[in-house]
Amino acid sequence: MNVLVVGRGGREHSILMKLAESENVSSLYAAPGNGGIAQHATCIDINETEIDKLIDFAKINKIDLTIVGPENPLLEGIADQFKEAGLKVFAPTKKAALLEGSKRFAKELMQKYGIPTAGYATFTNAEKAKEYIHNSGAPIVIKADGLASGKGVVVAETVAEALEAVDSMLVNKAFAEAGETIVVEEFLIGKEFSLMAFVHEGNVYPMIPARDHKRAYDNDAGPNTGGMGAFAPVEDITSDIVSYATTEVLQKTADGMLVEERPFTGILYAGLMQTADGPKVIEFNTRFGDPETQVVLPLLENDLLQVLLDVQAGKNPQLKWEKRTALGVVVASNGYPGHYEKAIPLPTIKPAKNTYVVHSGTKKVAGKLVSDGGRVLVVGAKESSIELASQTVYEALKTIDTEGFYYRNDIGGNS
Ligand code: AMP
Ligand code: GLY
Repeated sequence: MNVLVVGRGGREHSILMKLAESENVSSLYAAPGNGGIAQHATCIDINETEIDKLIDFAKINKIDLTIVGPENPLLEGIADQFKEAGLKVFAPTKKAALLEGSKRFAKELMQKYGIPTAGYATFTNAEKAKEYIHNSGAPIVIKADGLASGKGVVVAETVAEALEAVDSMLVNKAFAEAGETIVVEEFLIGKEFSLMAFVHEGNVYPMIPARDHKRAYDNDAGPNTGGMGAFAPVEDITSDIVSYATTEVLQKTADGMLVEERPFTGILYAGLMQTADGPKVIEFNTRFGDPETQVVLPLLENDLLQVLLDVQAGKNPQLKWEKRTALGVVVASNGYPGHYEKAIPLPTIKPAKNTYVVHSGTKKVAGKLVSDGGRVLVVGAKESSIELASQTVYEALKTIDTEGFYYRNDIGGNS
């Protein structure tokens, strides 16, 4: 089969590495891909949201299946348009991707179908939002309704901070239309984890749980980022917790989406907080997580292409997972998540036992690999324990010249 993966990050590189192992793949393409992806697939110069061009490419090159990495093309209707063009795609329709595209929609769905999540209220009026915040007190969480590249969430420690967030979103329109509605949410206490599943309509096949470290610096200091490292599985998230989250969150969501006439096909990602009352949803994504994918897919023993085909055909893919822990540390450009330089030459990383390297933001210029994003690489390891995996990754990182880049030293630790 000829397979096309849409995207350019570490998530897509991991998907492609896994697909490259499949016996049934004849040609692999990535649009637009990156410097690392080019080792496994033909990269084509089409951006993620140039849907017409992607459709033309898929037709001409007889693409049998397209997999979509990032959220933006999903919300622009890539799955709908591919299907209309008679092309097979593993991705949610625009109507189904609203689960990620609108936090208000997601909260209303959870409320309607009894899916555990933080208490909330939605507002378009700043004065009403402020009154609610005064009555509720802090800490409290303010979220822009729409997509805001991971920047639309403010966990306010004080009422003053929360009021400022309301002004920034509703009055100063910091996120334009994406922040015209806000969700004000109860602050949840607990440990976070991510649970992704392959979903087709009412069928839900969960992956192993992962934990992402979102803050930029050690000990969870510094600004929020797309994720600075991750590991899977997560010891404190027991199989009972995973079963509960599968039934009460993922299955109920898939079923609710069917009832709402928004049948879901694709990857359903629940960002969860393990609270004293059990797991509660923090957010939904309608795609693979980044960097979770870089530590979850390396442990999948099945042929990924076959899994996707089985799930879409209504068959149980019988997922099997390697009994090891994968841990990945993000190497980011100095300055990320703020301003950073691009085109810094990448260090050469010698392959070491049990390690792997995923490219997140790189490109090849005149035959040389250079940085091309905030998050540049993920250096990962698979070992028999999280301690060993962490040791292996950090030993590998020590041997690399990371001038111009930085990484957290405590991925896999308690923060
Ligand atoms: P998000 O961009 O939705 O992933 O949110 C960013 C981060 O904000 C999450 O990873 C959590 O650490 C935090 N967060 C979001 N919602 C809540 C909540 N209701 N209670 C506590 N922390 C939250
Ligand atoms: N790691 C969180 C996300 O992919 O949105």
